[in-house]
Amino acid sequence: MDRGSLEEWLARMASTRVAVVGDGCLDIYWLADMRLSELSRETPHFPLPVVEERMSLGAGSNVAVNASRLAASVAMATVIGEDWRGREWGRLLHAVGLSGECAISDAAWITPAYCKPLRGGWSDVRYEDPRIDFANRRPLPDYLAARLADCVGALAEEADVLIVSDQFAFGVMAPGVIDAVNRSAMAGGRCFVDSRHRLRQFRNAVLKPNRLELLQAMLPERILEDVPAAALREAALQLGRETSSSVCVTLGEDGLLWVGQDGVHSYPAAVVRPPIDIVGAGDAFLAALAVASGAGASRDDAAFIATLAAGVAVRKIGVTGSASGQEMLDLYDIQAHRGDT
Ligand SMILES: Nc1ncnc2c1ncn2[C@@H]1O[C@H](COP(=O)(O)OP(=O)(O)OP(=O)(O)O)[C@@H](O)[C@H]1O
Ligand SMILES: [Mg+2]
Repeated sequence: MDRGSLEEWLARMASTRVAVVGDGCLDIYWLADMRLSELSRETPHFPLPVVEERMSLGAGSNVAVNASRLAASVAMATVIGEDWRGREWGRLLHAVGLSGECAISDAAWITPAYCKPLRGGWSDVRYEDPRIDFANRRPLPDYLAARLADCVGALAEEADVLIVSDQFAFGVMAPGVIDAVNRSAMAGGRCFVDSRHRLRQFRNAVLKPNRLELLQAMLPERILEDVPAAALREAALQLGRETSSSVCVTLGEDGLLWVGQDGVHSYPAAVVRPPIDIVGAGDAFLAALAVASGAGASRDDAAFIATLAAGVAVRKIGVTGSASGQEMLDLYDIQAHRGDT
């Protein structure tokens, strides 16, 4: 793609309306300065004295954040709990300018969170303690699934593209919510799906598994290392046939494999020199792919734009990466200068 075309697509993407349905989550970092720790008098432990707290939107809400950096408007449909994490989640959503009108808050649900305690001391070494997770342990109640399904129907009608981000085993993508997504895709809506546990339940969409998710869905009995490229391709073809969908398998630094009605296509990843940090690559990729397609980009152009966005994200060290249009143009220029594009 030449630079002018990229600029044109980014401008069109900037007037795109996006709906995201999926799991909300709060990512929390607690940085403890162990130089301040004193042996507890009650228990034989050194407590973690927290000196810094950082919170950000995770799971589906991070996909929404990524989309909001490229699109005109993003509405997030989800269910969160009436708990402190839900309140922080809503505050962050508001702060980044996302619409939370379809974020249903209910006491029967809990707001998922990943809390990561990090210890620092005299040296530069950071030690990460086991994560503390808040997650739901039972299915979404039917009345909440029905309300969320109604929201999906309404949002999808208004939006140029619908993104599904389905991360948790007990998440918000209940059968009735998936039906609402499938109805919208059936009616001709563009729909992009990232689903860790329920890939095979979606229809008429673009499914975006990574290698592991594809294999877990299609060949759960195989050991990952044991799967040749031809079997991976066959698994993607079978998933596509079964779901009447296109399948876009992301392969980390090896780019992606796209299996559609017109065959199998490979696209390379952006060439990014170390140091890299892959956290956030998948979300940046999915958001850019969906927004570009929502703006009318062809598969080739959307795949290029998505790999560029993911390339920007992996260059961001120590944070969940995301990409703006300007950052994508900058990476494009770096690659063009090196002769990589
Ligand atoms: N090392 C890398 N260099 C350049 N691009 C990368 C690299 N790793 C990932 N990417 C880009 O990010 C895309 C998505 O990566 P990956 O296949 O790891 O997705 P994922 O497993 O869904 O990610 P996540 O762990 O964030 O959910 C790739 O298709 C590629 O374009
Ligand atoms: Mg992923």
